[in-house]
Amino acid sequence: MSLHGRFIEREQRVLYPIYRRLPIAIARAEGCWIEDLDGKRYLDLISGIGTNALGHGHPRILDAVRTQIERYMHVSNLYYQEPQIALAEMLCQRTGYRAVVYSNSGAESWEAALKLARRWGSLHGKTGDIVTFSGGFHGRTYGALSTMDKALYKDGMGPFLPNTRIIPFNNPEAFDQAVGPTTCAVGLEFIQGEGGIVDVSAELVARIAERRQQYGFLLIADEVQSGCGRTGDFFAFERYGIRPDIVTMAKALGGGLPLGAILVGEHLIGVWERGQHGTTYGGNPVACAAGIVVLEELAGGVLEHVRRLGERISADLAILAAEFSGLIRSIRGRGLMRGIELTEDATHLRDELLRCGVITNATATTVLRLLPPLVLSNEEWSIALEALRAALAARSTATAVAATNPS
Ligand SMILES: Cc1ncc(COP(=O)(O)O)c(C=O)c1O
Repeated sequence: MSLHGRFIEREQRVLYPIYRRLPIAIARAEGCWIEDLDGKRYLDLISGIGTNALGHGHPRILDAVRTQIERYMHVSNLYYQEPQIALAEMLCQRTGYRAVVYSNSGAESWEAALKLARRWGSLHGKTGDIVTFSGGFHGRTYGALSTMDKALYKDGMGPFLPNTRIIPFNNPEAFDQAVGPTTCAVGLEFIQGEGGIVDVSAELVARIAERRQQYGFLLIADEVQSGCGRTGDFFAFERYGIRPDIVTMAKALGGGLPLGAILVGEHLIGVWERGQHGTTYGGNPVACAAGIVVLEELAGGVLEHVRRLGERISADLAILAAEFSGLIRSIRGRGLMRGIELTEDATHLRDELLRCGVITNATATTVLRLLPPLVLSNEEWSIALEALRAALAARSTATAVAATNPS
C-alpha cells in the first residue's frame, strides 16, 4: 500500500469523517509549494484557505515564532503581553479603529461581533434583527450558522438564534424591507468568499449607508477571508467609501497560526464591561508574533505586490475566459482573491489542475477559487497560468467528448 493509502486507512479508523480531502498527504511545505509523501510538488494556490499570507515557512515568521516560544508560549489573558499589544497598536494605526478584541478563528471573531452588537443593541433600544445575506459564510458556530443560509451547513442542527434574518444578497429592495428603527446590525462580506467570490454591489452598499444613517444600526464587515491585503486593499470594504462599526479578521492575520480579531470604533468602547467577553487562547502571543510579521511585510511591499500581480492576473484571466468561452462563464474577484465561474461543476477543473501539480479549490459548485499566498511570484503565476490553460483544454476536450457520446 502507498504511503498515502496508509494515511487514509489510519485516518478512517480514528478521525470523524467530516472533510472531503484532496488526495494529498503532506510531507512539507515551503514558500508557495507543498510536497507530498511521495515527493510530488504542488504549487499552492489556496494557502491553507487564505491563511498562509506569506507562504509556508516564511523565514521571518519562523524567527518571530521561535523567539516568542522561547520567551513564553502561552500564559492566558490573565497578564499583559507585549506581542498582543504591539500587534493591536499596528492594527489600530493601520486601520484607524480604536481597539482590538482577539480570538482564535474567524467564527469566533464573528461570534464576538454578534455578541457586541447585541449588547450595544440592548443598551440603545436596537433589539430587532441582525440582518445578513444569502451566500454569506461566517463560520460553523451557532451564531454564524444563524446568520447564514446554506442548507448543507445547517440541516437538522437547529434551532438557531432568534432575531436573525437572512435576505437575498445584492437586492436593495429586499434590504429596505428587512430593516427598520429597531434593527440591531447588518453584517456582510464585501466580497463573498465561500459564496463564490461575489462582490457586494455598489447599489446595496449605498442603500446600507442610507438606511444606517436613518435607523442607526451597526454595520459589521466580515473581512476574515478578504482582509489583510488579499484583494489589494487592506480591507475589501475600503473601495466602497463606507466605514463599518465592527470588522472581523482571522485567517491571514496569523500568517498560518490560529488568530482572529475584531476591530471596533470608539463608540463601542464600554459596551462590554470587563469579564463580559473573553477567551483562554485568543491573542496567543506566538500567533500575535507571527501577525506582527504579516503586517510588517504587507506594509513593506507585499500589499503593493498584490495590487500589481492582481492586475496581471486580471488581464491573464480575461484572455483565458475568451479562449475558453464555452467553459468559463465569468471571472470574479480582485487582487489574489479570485473566482473562475464555470459552466460545469468546478471539482472537475480542480482535479485536472491537481494532476498538473496545482492546488486550487472548488466553491459554490461552479466556481474555481484561487487564494494563493500573497507572496506568489510572477514566475509562479506563469506556472499556474500554463497549468490552468492545460487543465481547461483537457476539460474542453472531455466535455466535447461527453457531448458527442451522451451515455
Ligand atoms: C468570510 C469568512 N468568515 C468566517 C469564516 C470562519 O472562519 P474559521 O473557519 O476560522 O472559523 C470564514 C472561513 O472560511 C470566512 O471565509
